[in-house]
Amino acid sequence: MNWREPTPEHDYSSRLFAQEDSYLKNIRESLRSDKKEGINIDPYEGRFLQLIISIANISTVVEIGTLYGYSTLWIARALPSHGKIISFESNLENYEKAKALLSKTEVWSRVDLRFGDAHSLLNELHGPFDMAFIDANKSGYTGYLDWSEKNIRKDGLIVGDNTLLFGHMVGRDRGIEMPERAITVMREFNQRLSDSSRYRSVLVPTLEGMTIAQKLFV
Ligand code: DHB
Ligand code: MG
Repeated sequence: MNWREPTPEHDYSSRLFAQEDSYLKNIRESLRSDKKEGINIDPYEGRFLQLIISIANISTVVEIGTLYGYSTLWIARALPSHGKIISFESNLENYEKAKALLSKTEVWSRVDLRFGDAHSLLNELHGPFDMAFIDANKSGYTGYLDWSEKNIRKDGLIVGDNTLLFGHMVGRDRGIEMPERAITVMREFNQRLSDSSRYRSVLVPTLEGMTIAQKLFV
């Protein structure tokens, strides 16, 4: 399945700044053999997340959407040794794969994988946390933002992947159909995060779009 086509520019950045080690390569191989490669973030995006985690003094992260743990591993590696990433996955096969792949890594002690529906699991999870990384079902993004606004600390980060929604935010058809609901939800998600009285934020126009917001209110 051709989820996206990285440009030479994206590949150049990844090759030069975000070399994958054997563990990241393993995750990518598993995704590829299960025809899910491309749903994961790109290497340069993983490196970018590491950089902002380090700059913003992030030590606790809630990730919504684990898939096989590719972004989880990039993020966990940027955390201090006492740091923690709690990562939710609603698909049992994905959850089991992520567990098998991540449990071999040197940062496994910082990783807390949880299986189930993120909306109900988040109901029971109370912050403050330093950062949310939202990368799950696109129709759920505003709900995840509601949770993040309550549970991410002031000056913490809220990051959403796929915020260009495969071109749908700009009327570009890249052949990935999305329900009308997901399009409406993503518009609202970006709109809310663009409020400069509440967030210091930007939509970085990566191939899929990644919206990065520092939460300015308590
Ligand atoms: C899909 C989901 C993602 O989070 C992504 O980055 C790419 C594709 C998908 O569901 O198709
Ligand atoms: Mg994504």
